[in-house]
Amino acid sequence: MTVTVGELAAFKARREPFIMLTCYDALTASALDEAGVPLLLVGDTLAMVVLGYDSTLPVGMDEMLVFTAAVARGARNAMVVGDMPFGSYQASVAEAMRNATRFLKAGANAVKLEGGARVTRAIGKMTRAGIPVMGHVGLTPQSVNALGGFKVQGRGQTGDQVLEDALALQEAGCFAVVLEAVPSELAARVTRALAIPTIGIGAGPEVDGQVLVTPDLIGLTSGPLPRFVKRYADTRATLVEAARSFAKDVAGGHYPGPEHQYH
Ligand code: KIV
Repeated sequence: MTVTVGELAAFKARREPFIMLTCYDALTASALDEAGVPLLLVGDTLAMVVLGYDSTLPVGMDEMLVFTAAVARGARNAMVVGDMPFGSYQASVAEAMRNATRFLKAGANAVKLEGGARVTRAIGKMTRAGIPVMGHVGLTPQSVNALGGFKVQGRGQTGDQVLEDALALQEAGCFAVVLEAVPSELAARVTRALAIPTIGIGAGPEVDGQVLVTPDLIGLTSGPLPRFVKRYADTRATLVEAARSFAKDVAGGHYPGPEHQYH
């Protein structure tokens, strides 16, 4: 049975922290599902961690739908959330609605989009049509050019705007809100003010759930990472070592052995 919006609300009611992880393919989806991860986000971060771009801006609907369908095929119980890419929901409410619909047809159970009050009309239309919507405020990477970089948001007076936006998203019908790169005190304030769950990334401990980008979680990404990332494995080193061992075995005539051959 797929995790429901009601079950996520129950996590908040029980004050039981939960997690969400990004996911971009069927095999990883089946492994994360086996681990009991309740929420799989087909994040537009795939533009960076899968497709190699330096921001999330270039990825479009067609690519997002291919990866969303793959994740939906791999997941059994997790709720699959499709991340609406830059340009897919800003032009008009009608276009936003059409694109949200395409995510659900591809197998997503919900969609996520970035922004506060400026996207509530589109969210209202979607939720009235039965599409669960997750909001996203604080650092909204699709606005990287307007924000002047991937910077912490909501410090000082601007924190009130983040809170207002989160309340507007709740009012519009969102079932949860991602808070990205905001001071912990602000995230705690927003979490207390909202009846729906907050899911933090770089938002400190006082949120209802935590989300990480899976290639960061498993140590596949390299180079400097944001302060909030905690690596739980060193998959990159494992992969490099496995490839080197394979090459060494082949060069030394140790692979394939008798047990790897057909006769
Ligand atoms: O696209 C994404 O992966 C996200 C998470 C960082 C929340 O939006």
